[in-house]
Amino acid sequence: MNFNRKILTLDEFTIQQLRNFPHATGELSSLLRDLGLAAKRVNVEVNKAGLVDILGDHGSVNVQGEEVKKLDIFANNQFMKVLQHGVSCAGIASEELDDIVVFNDEISNQSKYVVMFDPLDGSGNIDVNISIGTIFGVYRRLSERGTPCNEKDFLQKGIQQVAAGYIVYGSSTMLVYATRRGVNGFTLDPSIGEFCLSHPDIKCPPVGNIYSVNHGNFFRYEKGVQEYITACQKKDKTNGGPYTQRYIGSMVADVHRGLIKGGIFMYPGTTDKPNGKLRLAYECNPFAFIVEVAGGRATNGKQRILEIEPTTLHQRVPMFIGSKDMMDELEGCLINN
Ligand code: AHG
Repeated sequence: MNFNRKILTLDEFTIQQLRNFPHATGELSSLLRDLGLAAKRVNVEVNKAGLVDILGDHGSVNVQGEEVKKLDIFANNQFMKVLQHGVSCAGIASEELDDIVVFNDEISNQSKYVVMFDPLDGSGNIDVNISIGTIFGVYRRLSERGTPCNEKDFLQKGIQQVAAGYIVYGSSTMLVYATRRGVNGFTLDPSIGEFCLSHPDIKCPPVGNIYSVNHGNFFRYEKGVQEYITACQKKDKTNGGPYTQRYIGSMVADVHRGLIKGGIFMYPGTTDKPNGKLRLAYECNPFAFIVEVAGGRATNGKQRILEIEPTTLHQRVPMFIGSKDMMDELEGCLINN
């Protein structure tokens, strides 16, 4: 058998990281291993979505008033169960569930962390074989260990995240996660069923040439946003332009591209939906954390995403995220209007 010694699996990597913290308990490593396991299970189902009768509308409507696909529910259950059976998570909040789930058993009550996730973001793309993803944010609980976790544990500012990450189920499946120490990406090797380190120490380029926004809403955006989009279109060769517009409709895939290649992703408020569409807790905060650790920026147009005080579990916020210099230019347009 040909053994490639250069391969470092997700588990090996997180265990190696522990060596930098002599007092670490290994709970975060174990939590990431659990998330990786759930991701592999979801990946199997996503890959056969076109083949089996799991594809299509489930018929129910989630708490956001959106149509739920069967895979959303499958993914939600996988992440929830794997975290419940693990030793590191006291409870979860999910896009698919109205309320938090407090695991409340002997082991979970001793656990250090709570996790918020969107189990399958971009699920409108499942039917047409386009990338979708999972997003997660990990918080140290505020409630006392030994007791059940509670809602306050989930209403922390994004800046309090201990780790955040996403899985993109695309041309290949990748898990990217960040701690304050850095952002690392792992590609799933289907032949051995392991996430292997493929993108060590990811840095978001300070500028890219792609802007990502739903152009159909252009006339519903505030003037500053319109001005920035127009500036992207008007750039010429002397300043790296004109920028290319790309919008998959899967935030995970759109922001992932910007993180690796440089770029900006926007989901602004519109005249009819001033807070936009994206959820602070399990969409914006995890990505803001990851992109900031990688050197980029994320705001709601006025304030750093990570400093927004959450008021409800499912609140929405406008989202602007990406390469630092592009974010600076955007902010210039927003301030002038
Ligand atoms: P959903 O999971 O309901 O398909 O939503 C996906 C999110 C996000 O991933 C994407 O960037 C955005 O919604 C697209 O929304 P629009 O179609 O309104 O542009």
